Formats: sequence, structure tokens, C-alpha cells
Amino acid sequence: MSIADSAAAHARDTLFRNHRSGFSRAAQRPYDFTCPSPDTYPFQWAWDSSFHAIALVHVDTRRARDEIRSLLGAVTPTGFLPHMVLWQDDLRPTATADFRIDLWQGWRSVTIAPPVVARAIEHVYRATRDDLWLRRVLPPALAFFGWLAEHRTSPGTGLIEIYQPDESGLDSSPKYDAALGIESAPEDAVHDAWHAAMRSLITAYSSPARTPETPLRDRRLFVWNDVLVNTVYADGLACLARLARTAGLDGRTAARLTEESHAIGAALMRHCWDETTGAFYDLDLVAGKRRDVLTASSLLPILLDSVPAGAAHRVVEDHLLNEREFWRPHPIPSVAASEPSYDPSFRTGAIFRGSSWVNLNWYLHQGLRSRGYRAEADTLAARTRALVAASGTRECYSPEDATGHGARSFGWSSLVLDLAASTATEED
Ligand code: GLC
Repeated sequence: MSIADSAAAHARDTLFRNHRSGFSRAAQRPYDFTCPSPDTYPFQWAWDSSFHAIALVHVDTRRARDEIRSLLGAVTPTGFLPHMVLWQDDLRPTATADFRIDLWQGWRSVTIAPPVVARAIEHVYRATRDDLWLRRVLPPALAFFGWLAEHRTSPGTGLIEIYQPDESGLDSSPKYDAALGIESAPEDAVHDAWHAAMRSLITAYSSPARTPETPLRDRRLFVWNDVLVNTVYADGLACLARLARTAGLDGRTAARLTEESHAIGAALMRHCWDETTGAFYDLDLVAGKRRDVLTASSLLPILLDSVPAGAAHRVVEDHLLNEREFWRPHPIPSVAASEPSYDPSFRTGAIFRGSSWVNLNWYLHQGLRSRGYRAEADTLAARTRALVAASGTRECYSPEDATGHGARSFGWSSLVLDLAASTATEED
């Protein structure tokens, strides 16, 4: 079997094994989704599900559509879409402790995830041209982006803000270490130190009166403009603008969404771009400074049209394709190999501290293609397929030797199905 076929077989098997459907008594509605991993992540997670829908397009378009409909079934009347949707009544009781979360109305987390859902809707719509489905999913997706603009825009920067590290989905990335007070933890203590810091943050926020709209900015515990979250948000606004046009919504909606997307791109350039090093860094709004740890999110804005070609080419040439930083044997590490915190072998047991992740590769593959680096994009796609062929659909992989780490039968690693290279690649 070729590498591509073997990777695809792992991906299909995972999408099949992780399928969950039923009726939730707590939510009073049916659900139909793909869980991130049967053993460790049994519920519906927002950005995972969006990636699953993109992969499912290559397997079963009915399930791809149901995945998004299920997810958007969790949007509240105010427009909030939670990071986690705990549909299954029998599994929910243990979840609060396991996942360190506060729940909203018993079955949704009060936290957000990067809004990948707009990109997923566009992908699924392009494959199905199902207008009825689009008319159903577009209103809740627009509502969520409106909610983010209303409740999460930082007054000073115009960027979207998060109030705890896991709202970016990049939980224990070392870019948050200093803000969490764990930057001097030795490698073998990072995992416990991170969990302790998260517990105290969540305990400080916790209150029976907490809702998704509870203002947390003024608590000044963790207020953050994350480059990945804002890139995904700006990209999502651009997707929604195109979809609004397709769905025949009034022209003003599409124009406004495009304008908002460009405004985020411009704000990333103004506040997060560092001309000296040629990369993007997050803003810690409590400390009032940029946290200049070089991670995969420093590269992500190459995706956005509103980021000038000069900046994008510097990111690619100086960092992404730099063998001492991100262009490792099995790219792309979530942290540059030049960072002291780089943990390629998962020795810390903490995620996003150096391992390669298929979802980040999927976005960066698109970024490379859109910036004209087609051969490099093909190489990245081929190497990502090789990771999955060698180690199965694991949560993440060593960028040095391709060993798989973290959860098994992991859903979004099935994105390899979508990483079809357009030209002959090194594996063939
Ligand atoms: C971890 C990740 C988060 C992901 C979830 C399910 O909590 O940090 O990004 O959504 O697992 O895969």
C-alpha cells in the first residue's frame, strides 16, 4: 500500500470509529457528530468538529453536513458557540472534573474555541452545493461571529480576546508560560504546573452566576490577543462574506464581513507583527506587552489576503522553511526548534510545546499554496501523510522522528484526506 493510501485508510477508520449519534435529554435534541478520540475526548469539540466535517467531505457528505448542524445546534439565543458540547447524558457527570471546565446550562462549556466553523461550512458547501443546508447553518454561524465581535473585541486593539489559554485550543503552548507564572518550571514539572495554574484561573472565574457573557476583562487575570484565534476569525469572516453572497443575503452583509476581516488583518499587522524578527506574536493585555515566543501561530497570518506579501514571504523564508526552526524532518513543530521550551518528544506530557499537529499543517499548507509556494506545500502534505501512515491518527507527532503522541484514533488527523497534493510528491 502506498503512503497516501495507508494514511487515508487510517483516517477513514478513525472517522468511522469516532462517529457518535443519539438523543440528548439535557439538550432536548438529537446529535450526530465525530468525537476527537473515543478514549480521551468523547464529546463534541467545536474546532475539532469543524476539521472533522472538512475531512468527512471525502468520506460521507451527509455526515459532514450533520456534523456542522449538530455543532451549531449548541449555539445559544445570544449567539454563543461553546468550545465543548457535552451531548451524552451518561458521560457528562465525570466531565467537569476531567476537563477542568465550567458548564453553561449543564451541557455546554462557557468557553470558546477558534471559530473554524465558517471555513468548514464553506468547504462542505463547495462539495455539496446544498443550498437548503447552507440557509440553515449560515444564520447561527453569523450569530456566533457577531457574538465574538460584540463580547470579545479588545477596545484598544480591535482584536478578539480570550480569557484562558485553552480558548485558543493551544492549551499548554509555552507562549502562555510567563502569563501563567510557570516560565521557570523544569521540564518534568511543566505538566503539573500548567494544570495548577489553570485550576486557579478557573476557580477564580467560577461562580454560579457565570454565563458566557460574564465580563472577565476587568478581572485582569488573563486577557490575551492570540494570533491563531484572530487569524482563524479573520479567515472565517472572509469565508462568511463569500457564503453570504452565495446565499443571496443583502450585499451590505457581505461587504461588512469583508471589511471586518480586513480590519483584523490590519490590526494583526499593527499590534502583533514584529518587523525585527519577521513574525507575529500574541499580545498579553494584562502585562501590556507582546510575548515573543516563536510558535506555529506566529506563522499562521500568511493565510490572510490582508497581510501584505512582503510580511508573508518573510514569515515563510525566514521561519517556516528554516531548518533550524520549523522545517524539521517532520514539520511543522508547534514551537520553533530554536526555542528553549521546544519539546519535540512530548517529554513534558503537555500539548502544543513542540509536536507537529495535522490541523496546523492543514492551515499552513493552504497558506503556502496561496502565497505561491506550491512545491513546499506539496512536500508538507506528503510529510503529513507520512506521519499518519507511520504512526496512525495520533493527537500529535514528533517533528524529529515521527513518533505519535497523545490520544489515539484522533479525529482531526484525518484532515490528511484533504491534503491532496496537486503534483508528484516525494513519496511517489
Ligand atoms: C485539547 C486541545 C483542544 C482540543 C481538545 C479536543 O483540549 O487543547 O484544542 O479541542 O483537546 O481534541
